[in-house]
Amino acid sequence: MEYSVKQAIPGKQPSPCVVVAVHERQQLSPAAAQLDKLSRGYLRTILKRGDIKGKCGQTLLLHDVPWTRCERVLLVGCGKNRGMSPRDFRKVLQQTARTLDRHGVREADCHLLEVDVEDRNLEWKARQAAEVMTATLYRFDLLKRKEDRQPVRLRRVHFDVPEEQARAARKALRQGKAIAQGMTLARDLANLPGNLCTPTHLADEARRLANSDRRFRIQVLDEKRMQRLGMGALLAVARGSRQPPRFIVLEYRGDPGGGAPYVLVGKGITFDSGGISIKPAAAMDEMKYDMSGAASVLGTLAAVSRLALPLNVVGVIPSCENLPDGNATKPGDIVTSMSGQTIEILNTDAEGRLILCDALTYSERFKPRAVIDIATLTGACVIALGKHYSGLLGNDETLLKQLGEAGETSCDRPWRLPLGEEYQEQLKSNFADIANVGGREAGTITAACFLARFTENYPWAHLDIAGTAWLSGPHKGATGRPVPLLVQFLLDRAAEAAPQS
Ligand code: BES
Ligand code: MN
Ligand code: ZN
Repeated sequence: MEYSVKQAIPGKQPSPCVVVAVHERQQLSPAAAQLDKLSRGYLRTILKRGDIKGKCGQTLLLHDVPWTRCERVLLVGCGKNRGMSPRDFRKVLQQTARTLDRHGVREADCHLLEVDVEDRNLEWKARQAAEVMTATLYRFDLLKRKEDRQPVRLRRVHFDVPEEQARAARKALRQGKAIAQGMTLARDLANLPGNLCTPTHLADEARRLANSDRRFRIQVLDEKRMQRLGMGALLAVARGSRQPPRFIVLEYRGDPGGGAPYVLVGKGITFDSGGISIKPAAAMDEMKYDMSGAASVLGTLAAVSRLALPLNVVGVIPSCENLPDGNATKPGDIVTSMSGQTIEILNTDAEGRLILCDALTYSERFKPRAVIDIATLTGACVIALGKHYSGLLGNDETLLKQLGEAGETSCDRPWRLPLGEEYQEQLKSNFADIANVGGREAGTITAACFLARFTENYPWAHLDIAGTAWLSGPHKGATGRPVPLLVQFLLDRAAEAAPQS
């Protein structure tokens, strides 16, 4: 989808569709009022008839509004005529995109950026508009036959913005679009089934991304290299699979000054059967999305490159399948991680932390400014926070606060859980340095406690996205989260480094 900025008086220029806001109690937005005047009171007549109440997200499509030069007018309800919540604004954008596309509108002139959103400026509104509209029209029908695919019909949206703010709005639209494209990449990868999205496929996708920008450098380590590095925990998970594991290191150099990099570590389990501690059959298909952390790292790096952010960012992706096999790791097996710590694998289904711990140790070599790992790590996180908030834990207050703020800005929020020392006891092993599971209580926290043992040498945060990366039920599929959160976090860091011109 293409987004642009222009100055337009609604209804005066030819347009396939003009989009304007109406509020409750028959109140018109400034653009709607202009259109009403031009049409000699037509909009007010419609509102009086009560076809649209102006409730948030309601829409009404009108054709051939008299005395105007547009083919259609879309009225969009924006609630009470005062600052709306960011969430409501996103709902408005979703409904707008859906309605336009459903009616086959290919190009629209949108006057929705003039509505007030509590504590948010025009740039925010423009960034959200591009992100939300693209994300709303996402579909995954690559694997259906051609006749059953539904191509997106809405191609282009022009936003009316005052001349003096056009530059800022254009930049914000570019950011929103880059975020949306990153989300699309992440969603495509997570929706792709395990037979197609293998560790090798992930590596190929990372290579494809690396080839698109000279600022990238990529390395893909094979099993031998992992052995030599001593990644015994990762290799213990990979053993049960016929698919070879891959360890992807994708470096983006946007700061030639050589600033310490932000390292993003993404869990890349391309299918999680649980291994010998096998999962129940119900909904096991959904475990193809157990590489959503990896997908969000690639999506974020794609956006970072498109926006040419002046930062150094490294994506680290440990990837393999978790399957049962005669050669698979068994409960009770003890392995040595790259850090030297030995791990008693009491449950082979707690495999995420096993591949992550070696990736986290590997990440020390970048002397990172901060490391953020992103993982569909625990079912307990889905129970605790549901699909709305990602779990957030870590060892650095500043980093955690920055992620919280980026969550507020992007509307892709994390919620903090405590990483108390008390919980470490649950990971005691009678036979090794540490056990890979901590019992039923506080599953998300003990998982993070496990990772904390491998992240003592740098500022670190952990995002548990088990609930947020995927929707079950009728809208089953990947969400693209937390790409918006991560890109916003990096945009904020870039702005800090180089205060706005
Ligand atoms: N990938 C799962 C976590 C998961 C579960 C994500 C459900 C999304 C939905 C992870 O590898 C796992 O199996 N975790 C176990 C840990 C347990 C054995 C300590 C879990 O949450 O049950
Ligand atoms: Mn598992
Ligand atoms: Zn898993």
